[in-house]
This record gives sequence, structure tokens and C-alpha cells, in this order.
Amino acid sequence: MWQFAARWTQKLPAETAHNIAVFALAHGFSPIVDQILLPVKTGGLSFDNPLGLAAGFDKNAVASQGAIRLGFGFTEVGTITPRPQAGNPGPRLFRLPEDEAVINRFGFNSKGMEIARNNLRKIAHRQGIIGVNIGANKASTDRVADYYQAAAYLAGEADYLTVNISSPNTPGLRDLQHEGHIKQVVQAAFKGRDEAVGQPDKRPPVFVKLAPDMPEADLWRAMDASLEAGVSGFILTNTTIARPENLHSQHRGEAGGLSGQPLTQRSLVVLAMASAHLQRLKAKDIVLIGAGGIASAEQAYARLLVGANLLQLYTALALQGPYIVGQILRQLKAMMIADGLDQVNQITQKRLSADQALLHAAHISKIVSKS
Ligand SMILES: Cc1cc2nc3c(=O)[nH]c(=O)nc-3n(C[C@H](O)[C@H](O)[C@H](O)COP(=O)(O)O)c2cc1C
Repeated sequence: MWQFAARWTQKLPAETAHNIAVFALAHGFSPIVDQILLPVKTGGLSFDNPLGLAAGFDKNAVASQGAIRLGFGFTEVGTITPRPQAGNPGPRLFRLPEDEAVINRFGFNSKGMEIARNNLRKIAHRQGIIGVNIGANKASTDRVADYYQAAAYLAGEADYLTVNISSPNTPGLRDLQHEGHIKQVVQAAFKGRDEAVGQPDKRPPVFVKLAPDMPEADLWRAMDASLEAGVSGFILTNTTIARPENLHSQHRGEAGGLSGQPLTQRSLVVLAMASAHLQRLKAKDIVLIGAGGIASAEQAYARLLVGANLLQLYTALALQGPYIVGQILRQLKAMMIADGLDQVNQITQKRLSADQALLHAAHISKIVSKS
């Protein structure tokens, strides 16, 4: 029935379908799924499994518990801006079904941090890990101050905080990824967090979310500056502004961030670059979250093999419906068994190159599908 509902909503305009899905999860309408345990400890947090719902689905923090009920091990709410803002005019969300992709240019439509915090405080029996993703208002004259304010306001409700400086839909936001700015932004978020949460051992770790569109040297510089400021991890990647030539769908020319299958290879490569950089730096215990075009266990396995501790997806859920979560996790578990591994972090520790990871994941996936 849920697969039917998911197929039916595919016929509606994309943003309407999205709003229905958020409403359903916020009000307890979701399929009953088996919770699959694949525990991961990283960043000082304990996750029931490594697959999370990426930011952008639940912008105002109303549906985190519904997402956990779908089987996700964690969910990231936001992006939340300090003050409410409407985002860009519609239409601003486009399905590219032939390409298994989506383009969005929402532009941080957010009810603001006060409403988001109230929503988070209303959760009665909190399940799963909840990350809070923060951003700057479009019209802000001091974007660094926005990260301070949002962190100060929301850190008390967050299991982790994500500093989002990689959305392509707020003009100039991605400039904050340059090494000169990134440190200021991250330091502002730390200041807000530390003022909000006095006890050092209760402070949520801070992650930085980066774009897939940076050359390798810029990625290293952004990572170095973030690490100097004390971040605990990176989410790689956000959506891309690139438009591969082989896109077929009617909406391929729309402006905004492209997500889903056309992003998968680039996000894997960027994650592998980041993982190799951390190894060179001998940076220990830095969390890597792989996101971008994950729609199968094979793709998930490849991200873990290059060094991801955790994974996130969004577009695959939007296009394929809620059962994708359990499917990926069940298959992932089967792949681990076929590979002779019983802990997710044993996959992470292999730290293969992107090419090796793809080959190995394809090999294990084939073994599982034959058995
Ligand atoms: C409709 C839509 C809205 C998004 N909004 C946000 C957002 O507000 N903040 C953010 O950090 N990422 C946002 N993202 C990016 C996703 O979190 C994710 O990084 C990206 O889509 C790649 O993963 P996917 O291919 O599995 O969707 C959004 C993505 C989509 C498709």
C-alpha cells in the first residue's frame, strides 16, 4: 500500500508530493518496517545503523521520528535559518525520472530557528540520532553571525550540528567554503554551541557539509581550515551545479542543485579524496558522512569502503518510496556477511580508492545476488 501511495504521489507536482510525505511522517503515517541493526559508534555518538535521511526533507524539524520509523539510523533536520524566510518562488523542485535525479532550488525555505526548536522540544520519546543543519538567511548582512545565532539557539536540541555552506541556491553561500571564510563560520558555530551548552561533554559535535563542485586542492584547504577550527567531521556531498551531458529528462536545464544518480560517481570520488586527505594528515576519529546519489546497497557499500563512517540519502527516498531504506540495509547486511565482516567500521577501515571500492562492492553484490 505504501509503495502504491508513493507511486500515486509521483503523479502530483513534486513539491506537493514532498509536502504530503512530510505531513504523513510528521503525523505517524508510515509503513511498519523491521528495524535493522548495524550499529556504528562514531563522533562520540551511537547509531543503530549507518544510513541517515539527508537534510532538506524535514526543513522545520517536524518529521524526525517518522523518518526513524522508516528504518533510518539517524536524520538531519534543516537547513534551518535564524529568521523565517520563504525561499525561492515555485516551481522550485523538479523530478528527472529518466535520470533518477531531482533538481531543487528551494533556497532555504525555513520557518526559522524558533519554530524548529519548539518542534524539536515537543518530541516526547526521542528515538534515533537527530542532526540539526544550520544556514544563513538570504538577506542577512552578516552571515557569520547567522551561524552563531542558529548554533546558539539549536545546539541544545541537537545530537550533532551541521554547518551548511554548500547549498547552491542561496547566492554567495558557497563562497563561505573558501579557507578565509570557513574558519570564521565554523568558529562562530562553535561559539554559539559552547554558550548554549555549558557542559563540555554534552556539546554536540560540529560537522561541515561541502559541495561536490570544488577542485581537489580547494577541498583540502576547506578541510584543513575546518579541522583547525575543531570540526569533528564532514558531509560529502551536497547537490551539484554541474549538468552532465547525458541527462535526458525534460527538466534537465532547470537551475538549482542536481541530486540522485548523476551525482553518485562525483560524490564517491570527493569522499575518497577527503578520506585520503585525512589519512595523510593522520587525523584520527574524524567522521565522514557519504551522501549523493546513494540508491542501492552496492553504492552504499562503496562509500563505506572508501572510508565513510555513515551514509545519507534523500533523492532515492523521494523517487522510490519508503521501502528503499530497509532494502538497502538488509542488502548491506547480506553483503557484509558475504565479505566476512560483522561490523560496519571494518568496512570503513579498508579505505580503498574509489575504483577499488566500486569493483569490490560490485563483486560482493554479485555474490549476494547469486546466493
Ligand atoms: C529537494 C532537496 C532539498 C534539499 N535541501 C537541503 C538543505 O536544505 N540543506 C542541505 O544541507 N542539503 C539539502 N539537500 C541536499 C541533500 O541533503 C543531499 O546532500 C543531496 O541531495 C545528495 O543526496 P541524494 O542524491 O541522496 O539526494 C537537498 C536535496 C534535495 C533533493
